[in-house]
Amino acid sequence: MGVTGKILVLILAIGGGLVYKNVTQLWADLPAPKLDPQEWWGDDAQPKDYEAYLKNSSEVIGNRLSYPDKTIADLKERLNRTLRLTPPLEGVAFEYGFNTDYLKEIVEYWRDDYLPRWREREVFLWQFNHFTTDIQGLRTHFLHLMVYDDNKVGKQHYPVLLLHGWPGSVREFYDLIHLLHQSNLDKNNKYIFNVVVPSLPGYGWSEGTSRKGLGPAQVAVMMRNLMLRLGYDKFFIQGGDWGSIIGSNIATLYPENVLGYHSNMCNNMSPKSLAKGLLAEFWPSLFVPSGFEDFFFPKSNELKYLMEESGYFHIQATKPDTIGAALTDNPVGLAAYILEKFSTWTNPSYRSLPDGGLTNRYKMDALLDNLMIYYLTNSITTSQRLYAEQYAQSQRDLHLERVPTRVPTGCARFKSDIMQFLDVQLKDKYTNLVHSTYHKQGGHFAALEVPKVLYKDFIDFVKTVERKFKIKTL
Ligand SMILES: *[C@@H]1O[C@H](CO)[C@@H](O)[C@H](O)[C@H]1NC(C)=O
Ligand SMILES: *[C@@H]1O[C@H](CO)[C@@H](O)[C@H](O)[C@H]1NC(C)=O
Ligand SMILES: *[C@@H]1O[C@H](CO)[C@@H](O)[C@H](O)[C@H]1NC(C)=O
Repeated sequence: MGVTGKILVLILAIGGGLVYKNVTQLWADLPAPKLDPQEWWGDDAQPKDYEAYLKNSSEVIGNRLSYPDKTIADLKERLNRTLRLTPPLEGVAFEYGFNTDYLKEIVEYWRDDYLPRWREREVFLWQFNHFTTDIQGLRTHFLHLMVYDDNKVGKQHYPVLLLHGWPGSVREFYDLIHLLHQSNLDKNNKYIFNVVVPSLPGYGWSEGTSRKGLGPAQVAVMMRNLMLRLGYDKFFIQGGDWGSIIGSNIATLYPENVLGYHSNMCNNMSPKSLAKGLLAEFWPSLFVPSGFEDFFFPKSNELKYLMEESGYFHIQATKPDTIGAALTDNPVGLAAYILEKFSTWTNPSYRSLPDGGLTNRYKMDALLDNLMIYYLTNSITTSQRLYAEQYAQSQRDLHLERVPTRVPTGCARFKSDIMQFLDVQLKDKYTNLVHSTYHKQGGHFAALEVPKVLYKDFIDFVKTVERKFKIKTL
């Protein structure tokens, strides 16, 4: 270490001493805040008589949307305009963002192959029962699969709430839903679930709010209200991305309702946890099971990746409406913006492939189904506002990252996901982290990419929870 290094260490030590008291304050656990379970997000003023509103509007209605031919023909036409896309630089694949040569191929496939089969895709999308109900003034869309009595015989039977993120949708879960709900196809499988899969507010067919402040904590309130409405007062939760954060918030605010929280993007953003993550790099073997060090280290790679890949985050957290305007009524731009994430977040190395590796792990139809949900419901702007709400002062003041979550917690790590946290970081928040796994293959969209692996991981978690906490089946 040179002289400058030594001086730096000295300064840090003195500074460290000075802020010690503040830091310990910063590290202390906080009690859970109380959120208003009736907070109103609808366009109209909150009804004076909330009970009467509940009586009147808690009906759950079947929801089978069919888009008119006109809408589909209009989209075909939009996709048939002369594209004035700027060609990629020589030798560049996805390093500068979505490769425009490949984008042209996708547009052609979308227009000439996928859209002519749209009615089939609708049948596919509506294979599960879709519903809507009014939650706190917002029309909320969800899939709901109930298990009938005949199928329950000899099975462990629980409700589970599946929560998607951005830029995903309920579509990510289709294979997983089959596994969870039709496990009676396999005689040896003793689990069967009542599955609830909502579209987050402002995503897909769930109405967005016209008021400020609907952040992940408030969405957690809504999602719990949805589960209570459907008669589930104890349930499992599974989610990645925003689904992970919202699921964590439900588990933190309403532990009495949560049998177990399972996430494929467990994280703990508390100052203490972030400090631990940096320190752990000096002694990886103390913190990481052997063979999985490269999930976490070197941190310099993580930092580089963060710099390269978090631009979308900053713009959506600060100017969601500007980028939203650029993407609205612009199916080609929307495709580039959304599908880029399905390339890079599935595997960062796909940035060097001319086609972004998009079909290495997914069917193009599945990716386009998800894209169609954003396009048809015109929900890109409202979906992006969730980032702004997360970073609003009022949301940060809740300090949910510092409120311990005591429900049984399971964390499935997938190697190519966009962030990774060590057990030692997670346990500060998730005091009952009873299941922690590492999967060498798979990325951010685990439900869509490796549904069977995610399913098995979730079931292993449920078994552990049953064994350790003696929970009762429905
Ligand atoms: C410690 O926190 C207080 C407010 O809580 C602040 O006024 C003070 O400047 C902080 N001191 C240091 C050394 O960070
Ligand atoms: C209940 O619903 C009816 C019909 O939709 C409406 O006319 C009435 O104003 C509603 N009442 C309340 C209290 O929301
Ligand atoms: C696209 O436009 C061309 C002519 O400009 C037309 O021949 C073709 O049928 C159109 N295709 C679609 C799917 O609209």
